[in-house]
Amino acid sequence: MSASDSAVSDVPVITVDGPGGSGKGTITTRLANHLGWHFLDSGALYRLTALAVMKNQVPLEDENSLGEVAANLDIRFDTSGSDVISWLDGENVSDSLRFEETGVLASKIAVIAVVRSALTERQRRFRQPPGLVADGRDMGTVIFPDAKLKIFLTASAQIRAERRYKQLKEKGESVNLARLFREIQARDLRDQSRSVAPLRPAEDAVIIDSTGLSIDEVFNKIVSLI
Ligand code: C5P
Repeated sequence: MSASDSAVSDVPVITVDGPGGSGKGTITTRLANHLGWHFLDSGALYRLTALAVMKNQVPLEDENSLGEVAANLDIRFDTSGSDVISWLDGENVSDSLRFEETGVLASKIAVIAVVRSALTERQRRFRQPPGLVADGRDMGTVIFPDAKLKIFLTASAQIRAERRYKQLKEKGESVNLARLFREIQARDLRDQSRSVAPLRPAEDAVIIDSTGLSIDEVFNKIVSLI
């Protein structure tokens, strides 16, 4: 191990994994602000890869080209107040990044091993002093197995569909709750049953079910664990 490796592994990491709609994004951002630490939204990397795949019209069967797209992503994140602006090839893609179809395509390419390995180093580079809060599916199991605190945040599929419905409605997207519920279940199944880095709690993770809890209650629970 080099001197710089040991310096990086000294930087503390808190991982927050779990299915979409469990409140991870909100909690992770709040936690990072509270601690003054960096923040990694790993789902955004899979979503940006999905947008690049759409843009380059790469067929899903062509795994090598998908891996190349992931390895050569030209992306940047800017923070403006509480908003994060995401850039792909110099274009602001913050809106299309959050479209439901982008998330669905992201979960389809996330099952491909070459895509995951192409994004691994990029995610680890977010580990910078004074610390990192990382949000995803495999942060505690694969990307930062040595994290100091690992949270697995979950909630029932019904409540997650309702939260997502509200979010999309507020953004003016036309949505159907029953369809969202089915998509969430299909996405959960894909994330949990893939052979590489499936969605599951790390053995040393603290599992929090946010179904009956407010964001404040979940936040306070995690702060009490730090
Ligand atoms: O969290 P978000 O909904 O933005 O993630 C989009 C998709 O990217 C997820 O459904 C999941 O399939 C994939 N993903 C992943 N590993 C991560 C983060 C996201 O496989 N660490």
